[in-house]
Amino acid sequence: MILLPVDPLRPDPEALRRAAEVLRGGGLVAFPTETVYGLGAHALDPAAVERIYTAKGRPSYNPLIVHVADAGAARALASAWPDEAERLAGAFWPGPLTLVLPKHDSIPLSVTAGLPSVALRVPAHPVAHALLALAGIPVAAPSANRSTGVSPTTARHVARSLGERVDVIVDGGPCPVGIESTVLSLAGPVPTLLRPGTISVDDLRPVIGDVALPSSATEETAARPSPGMLDRHYAPRATVRILPHAERTRTLADAAQRVNEGMRVGALLLEDAGDRRIAPVVRMPDDPAAYAARLYAALHELDDAGCDVILIDPPPDAPAWAGVRDRLRRAATA
Ligand code: TXA
Ligand code: MG
Repeated sequence: MILLPVDPLRPDPEALRRAAEVLRGGGLVAFPTETVYGLGAHALDPAAVERIYTAKGRPSYNPLIVHVADAGAARALASAWPDEAERLAGAFWPGPLTLVLPKHDSIPLSVTAGLPSVALRVPAHPVAHALLALAGIPVAAPSANRSTGVSPTTARHVARSLGERVDVIVDGGPCPVGIESTVLSLAGPVPTLLRPGTISVDDLRPVIGDVALPSSATEETAARPSPGMLDRHYAPRATVRILPHAERTRTLADAAQRVNEGMRVGALLLEDAGDRRIAPVVRMPDDPAAYAARLYAALHELDDAGCDVILIDPPPDAPAWAGVRDRLRRAATA
C-alpha cells in the first residue's frame, strides 16, 4: 500500500496523478471527501468494482455511490434527469448530497447491486474533486472501512481498517463534515430521503418542495427502502447505549458501578458525567455540524481506549440533528 500525503486545500497534482493512474488501471484508491474517506474504484470496470466488495467484506446486495467531478458528468450516467435533479445539483453540488436516479446502461449492475437506479455524487473536497477530474472516469466509492464498522474520517482510520487491501491511500487530513452524505431518491414518483445527512429535509424542501421520508413512522422505527441501510452499521466494537433522558443520573451511576467491577465505560456527552470513573469522556459540541465532524473520530478513540461500553447523550430532536441521530441509533443497534 502506498500512502500519499497531500495538502487538503492545494493538493499536489503529481501525487494525485499517480493515484488517478491506479484508479484508471483498476486499482483501489482511498481518498478524502468532505464527508468520510471513500474507497474508490473505476465504476465502469466490473473487476475493479468487485475488488471493493471483497476488500470491505461488503454484501453484494448493497449498491455503491458513483462519484464524478461535476454535474455534467453525473447527468451522463443517468437515463433520466428530472427538473428536481437540475435544481438540487445547482443548489448543493459540489457537496454532501447523493442523488439516486434511473441508471444509464454504461453502469455495471455490480455497482447498483442489480438495481435499475444509480446513486450519484459530486464531492466538494478539493482532493476528491482534483482526483476525479484527473482520473476522468466515474469512481464508485463506499466509505473506506470494513463493512459494518465505523466510517473513517482520517487516513489512519483507513489504514487500520483496510491496510494492504487497498493500493493507495491519499492522506488529505481529517474530513470536515464527518458523517456520510444525505441520500435522496429521485427514481420514484416522489423525492424520497433514503439516508439523512448534514443537508436536512429543511434544506431540501425550499429547493424541490415536499420530500417523503422513508415511512410516516419516526426515523427511529422506519423500514428503509435503501438496500444498504443495514441496521447494525457504523458500529464500534464496544456496546453503545444511548442514555435515557429521564434516568441519566441513575444510568451513569450504574455504569460507574460496573467500572468498579472491571469494565471500561467511556462516553460521548453533551453535559458533564458527574462521575470520574466514567472514562474516557469525549465532550461533544452542541452544534449539529460540529458534532457530526467529531463523531466518528470520537468513536474510534473510545474503541482504541478499549471501552466495553460507550454511553451517549441523545442529541436534540430538531431536523438538523437527523443525520447524527440516525448514525447513533445504528451504532447502538447490537
Ligand atoms: O458521503 C458518502 O456518501 C460517502 C463518501 C465516500 O462519498 N460514501 C458512502 O458510501 O457513504 P456507502 O457505500 O457507505 O453508502 C452508500 C449508501 C448506502 O446506504 C446504499 O444503500 C445507498 O447509498 N445506495 C447506493 N446506491 C443506491 C441505489 N441505487 N438506490 C438506493 N440506495 C442506494
Ligand atoms: Mg458505509
